[in-house]
Amino acid sequence: MRAHVGDQLIVESPTTGATKRDGEIVGLHHDDGTPPYDVRWSDTEQVTLVFPGPDAHIHPIAHGPEEPREAAGQRVSAAARRGDRSLSEAVVMALVQDATAAPSMHNAQPWRFQYHRRRRVFHLRADLRGALPHSDPELRALHIGCGAALMNLRVAVAHEGWEADTRVLPDPRDPMLLASVTLTRPLGDEADPAALYPAVRTRHTSRYPFAETEIPGAVRAALVDAAHREHVALAFASGWHLQSVLELAQEAEARNLTDAGAAADLARFTRSADDTRPATEGVPESAFGPRRRIGKVPVRDFAGGKPVPGRPAADFESVPNLALLSTSQDRPVDWLRTGQAVERVLLRATLDGLAASFVTQALEWRDLRWPLRDPMSGMAYVQMVLRLGYGPPGTRTPRRPVDDVLDLEP
Ligand SMILES: Cc1cc2nc3c(=O)[nH]c(=O)nc-3n(C[C@H](O)[C@H](O)[C@H](O)COP(=O)(O)O)c2cc1C
Repeated sequence: MRAHVGDQLIVESPTTGATKRDGEIVGLHHDDGTPPYDVRWSDTEQVTLVFPGPDAHIHPIAHGPEEPREAAGQRVSAAARRGDRSLSEAVVMALVQDATAAPSMHNAQPWRFQYHRRRRVFHLRADLRGALPHSDPELRALHIGCGAALMNLRVAVAHEGWEADTRVLPDPRDPMLLASVTLTRPLGDEADPAALYPAVRTRHTSRYPFAETEIPGAVRAALVDAAHREHVALAFASGWHLQSVLELAQEAEARNLTDAGAAADLARFTRSADDTRPATEGVPESAFGPRRRIGKVPVRDFAGGKPVPGRPAADFESVPNLALLSTSQDRPVDWLRTGQAVERVLLRATLDGLAASFVTQALEWRDLRWPLRDPMSGMAYVQMVLRLGYGPPGTRTPRRPVDDVLDLEP
């Protein structure tokens, strides 16, 4: 048996294989890593000199045998079941990759992750390289995208078999530290939010026409509940309010097409087929969807009104299903909650066979955002407008490699 400082010593019951005790190796007595060891036990925090018996094994920190990612639907990973206290580097990278499958405005991916091995804590930071100075000067959309990545991370961590303590804006002196997720202990029987995991990598924004079909009441109720769990209200627009939201979005889309700032943000983050920039961010031509011929759906035109060779035109639905997400206040914490709610709603919708796209143009114009609300309801600050329906699932868009967005700390 050989160990390094920082490795875990696991003592298992010889009959059941369950972890009896575990601790961190904090001192060696031989240069070659053979026993005995000074071990800080996780249950008492006391350090004792240990001569490991046959019921003990070492779990190397960060270099351990890679735990196989389990099939979708199975929750508790072998590592968590055994009570191992560290995650291998491969598992940390897979969790961050799941997080980055989240949507972000213009696919700008305004996030960065740190994983602190000893404390088993993920930090999520804003990456201002993914900020959109013209379309999102207050960083509201940036917080929403990062909130969505946070939701994915929570889902993936639960799927991996861990219970987590999530805090948003944990340090008031550091507003760009958006959240911390500390893995506390193996997950119990609570299936939420791990059950959403199968949708993490299959969810895509779909800019295709949807069927003129109503969404059944039970499915709508599940989406309202998904947002509510993240402290955000979700309501479907109907009647005059739906017409008004559509008109506001059309007005905003028309302004965007002639606004130099919006055009600059778009140009930075859209990729034509012959683009030579690295294809790791932005919206590629393959995800633009068809041009709208008929219908009131104001799908954002990522081509900025310019012709794209070979791009077809299509008829969109005349009465879209638009869901508005709103909060009672309008602070960064509300934006982060909205991001988590948006992603929870989208994952739930994906599992229920719905496709989705975003209709956020009116939210980007101060004078158009306020009238988006339904004054007859308790709705205060509209944070997001989602279009939901039955249609093609959308196209995969690129992401930066995990190496580019993750720092591993001791
Ligand atoms: C805050 C926010 C605003 C967005 N606004 C729009 C929008 O107005 N129109 C649109 O088609 N997509 C919008 N999107 C979706 C992104 O373009 C999309 O998430 C990104 O391109 C990545 O693609 P994916 O969602 O398929 O993974 C928005 C996403 C976020 C998080």
